[in-house]
Amino acid sequence: MQTADIRKQWEGAAPGWARWEATIATWMEPATEAMLAMAGVDAGARVLDLASGAGSQTLRAAQRVGAQGHVVASDIADTMLHHVQENARAAGLTNVTTLAGAAEDLDVVAERFDGVICRLGLMLFSDPAKALRTVRRALRPHGEVAVVVFTTPATNPFMAKPMQILLRHAGRSHQRRDNPGSSRLALPV
Ligand SMILES: C[S@@+](CC[C@H](N)C(=O)[O-])C[C@H]1O[C@@H](n2cnc3c(N)ncnc32)[C@H](O)[C@@H]1O
Repeated sequence: MQTADIRKQWEGAAPGWARWEATIATWMEPATEAMLAMAGVDAGARVLDLASGAGSQTLRAAQRVGAQGHVVASDIADTMLHHVQENARAAGLTNVTTLAGAAEDLDVVAERFDGVICRLGLMLFSDPAKALRTVRRALRPHGEVAVVVFTTPATNPFMAKPMQILLRHAGRSHQRRDNPGSSRLALPV
């Protein structure tokens, strides 16, 4: 799928995604805290949040880094970033900025960040390896990156069952492993 199609798809999904933001934040809390700890998101850190969505993990990162730190929320969909800005303002956070664009093509200053996070995004990119090269460039030496992706359909019926039903109704058999999709980066367990 082309980047322009992915952007259009997520622009359409953004209002619905934002509406469920509080539920997603609660549901994802343990994985989010693990991701932030693994990426070294601590006081004073400069953090890049790729595929931020409406930004519940951005805000959590901004609280952790505090006034001396900074979080850049980036997403392919502008509407998602509007939600991040609104949510940061409502939470009284002044250390969050946004950067629109596909992760694969982000223009970031080399070695700018201490940590990069990406929650439920990497497997949805058209070219995850290219996005990881951007991450490598954006990180300072010995910086940390932590991503959250879904596991295999067999061990994730919560996602797999509805997806099977949706694909059946869409007249499609199954997700191709080389296409963006929830289980694309899942490792067999
Ligand atoms: C499943 S949502 C996750 C959002 C957020 N990280 C969270 O956990 O709530 C996936 C996000 O990835 C974004 N996205 C998809 N492809 C992208 C790309 N190539 N570059 C940057 N963002 C992308 C979408 O716009 C969407 O906000």
